Amino acid sequence: MSHTVALMPGDGIGPEVCSATRRVVEASGVKIEWVELEAGGEVASKYGTPLPQVTLDAIVKIGIALKGPIATPIGSGFASVNVQLRKSFDLYANFRPAKSLPGVPSRYEDVDLIVIRENTEGLYSGLEHIVVPGVVESLRIITEKGSKRIIRFAFETAVRLNRKKVTVVHKANILKLSDGLFLEVARKIARDFPQIEYEEAIVDATAMRLVLNPYDLDVLVMENLFGDIISDLTSGLVGGLGMAPSANIGEKYAIFEAVHGSANAIAGKGIANPTALILSATLMLRHLEETAAAESIEHSVRAVMKKGMALTGDLGGNASTSEYVDAIVAQMG
Ligand code: NAI
Repeated sequence: MSHTVALMPGDGIGPEVCSATRRVVEASGVKIEWVELEAGGEVASKYGTPLPQVTLDAIVKIGIALKGPIATPIGSGFASVNVQLRKSFDLYANFRPAKSLPGVPSRYEDVDLIVIRENTEGLYSGLEHIVVPGVVESLRIITEKGSKRIIRFAFETAVRLNRKKVTVVHKANILKLSDGLFLEVARKIARDFPQIEYEEAIVDATAMRLVLNPYDLDVLVMENLFGDIISDLTSGLVGGLGMAPSANIGEKYAIFEAVHGSANAIAGKGIANPTALILSATLMLRHLEETAAAESIEHSVRAVMKKGMALTGDLGGNASTSEYVDAIVAQMG
């Protein structure tokens, strides 16, 4: 069966890691018709917006996309395209696994964590205003509806993937109303999943626990900003941002992307680590029920890493992006 997938190469190292990923996916034998779409800073001058309507329309039609990172100007300039995509397609759940691969230098071995980040609310609602000159207010939105669906998603994911525990990460000691609501909803939903251990943990203490003993945690669910920060931390436990995949999931649409950004300092040099996007593509293939292709890619990535054949610079090696991809493709062959 052939699938149609929208492909947004994005900014910085995006085009390099996208074409590397495309090569690996094609080598797995799965049939995909890629529809390349434009989005990002460079596109803004052509269309007057970094997220053109033609791109949005194509995603509506296709339903599924693989995307490279898109840079967001700091302080001023256009709003984040990544956040706009998540909101436009109501991709409320951001699934971010952090799993050690043998041969990848990191502080711990056999880390196997899943961070589930709420993707549409919290401080990313982008509601900011100047109260009086010198005083700015940013609204952190937590709704019952948003909390219910992300917490249910976390428990359902835990069941589907045979996990043991869900930890609800919060700051309800300070944010008594907003995170208080998040916890109240979590406690109710947890009752529907008696087979899964339920735990509550304050976000700052969770950061410390993850660094001291990552084996103590399993599936973690949290609001948007906490998820952003904690998932970078869990990426660091398994070798860094070059190793961290993610899936943005909604009821009707799904967009798969690496956790990392456009890494401008190494863009265009052919040295970026494409593993994060390759593993994001395996999440996409599983979503498309192409399990055999996903497994074949995962197996090959693991084998190449284990043999230390072609580690990119971020992992302490000196392989180029294309040498690393060559090794994966050869392994699949
Ligand atoms: P970044 O993830 O681009 O880079 C952080 C560090 O990790 C850098 O040292 C970079 O070289 C390294 N790195 C990241 N990915 C790598 C890879 N695949 N291979 C080797 N090294 C890698 O984060 P930064 O610098 O904070 O953000 C740059 C831009 O990306 C910003 O405009 C930001 O808004 C955007 N961004 C976009 C995201 C998305 O499209 N979903 C996610 C995160 C940031």
